[in-house]
Amino acid sequence: MPHANKLPEVEHFVPVKPTTEKLDYAEVVNLDFSTWDQGPKAIQALAKQLNFAMRTQGFFLIENHGFPSKRSTDRRAATRASSWRNYWTIDQGVKDQIEQYNWNRDLSLREHPSTFQPFGPELPANFFIENHNYETFDESWFRYMMYFHDYNPSDIEKTGGVWLKGHCDFGSVTMLFSQPMASLQPMNHFTGKWRWVPYKPGAIVINADEMMEWWAGGYYKATIHRVCQPPADQRTQNRCGLFYFVVPNEETKVNTLLEESPVLRAAGVERRFEPGTEPTSAMYRGARIGAYGTSSLFQGKGSGVVIHRLRVDLSA
Ligand SMILES: [Fe+2]
Repeated sequence: MPHANKLPEVEHFVPVKPTTEKLDYAEVVNLDFSTWDQGPKAIQALAKQLNFAMRTQGFFLIENHGFPSKRSTDRRAATRASSWRNYWTIDQGVKDQIEQYNWNRDLSLREHPSTFQPFGPELPANFFIENHNYETFDESWFRYMMYFHDYNPSDIEKTGGVWLKGHCDFGSVTMLFSQPMASLQPMNHFTGKWRWVPYKPGAIVINADEMMEWWAGGYYKATIHRVCQPPADQRTQNRCGLFYFVVPNEETKVNTLLEESPVLRAAGVERRFEPGTEPTSAMYRGARIGAYGTSSLFQGKGSGVVIHRLRVDLSA
């Protein structure tokens, strides 16, 4: 029997064709999860690749992850309804052209308008699973984000073509589907150079975030990344992405895992916080979201890189 209520038409996003320009691409580690079922040796090889990626860039791709990518692109409705452009300043008075729409995985928190396995540092087997327990509250969320290309030539000159300044995300990791539009750029931690992320159809791009860097005491790097105007053959279209921001469970205290990890101890990493003063995931999330779009960094002041790493006021 047909559904009595006809669903409204949704404007679907059609991505741009891959660029034909020769770009300076970043060397991004590509984890092929199709080898996972081959057993412990294959998993160990993946762990080795992952460890290298996390120690050098905090940035990598996963292929053959088992999530149907077509589903993600099918659902990329335009985000115009959230109408959030011109919220912060990129540079020299030029406002952003970004709209986004967030939703929590627990939709009872905010309704719509109407795991990790242990790796490099040899942590206890379920460490990341236990601190990202799906049944426990946290504010991990999804986001559709639309970057409009509505900048005039003088704005582009002022911003150098930057659409979103360099920054780190604050949770554990951020996941996004690889996009044909060349736009995302991670900064090389050693050279300070920005390079393009290559397009891998169907792959998931992973950024390590600030709380992951705290857990590893800097042994793993949070990725500094930015979003830029694409090459000339992709400039007539907007960029729409589906992101998942993974945040540790709300009451998880995040500090460097020196007791848990012999690898971190052997590497001589320092603890991020004095024991007893470490913030909970909720405290840091609150501090970061409170500063979102309102700090001087988002008001177009300072250099082209926004590094939050806010000092969390533990007395608050
Ligand atoms: Fe980001």
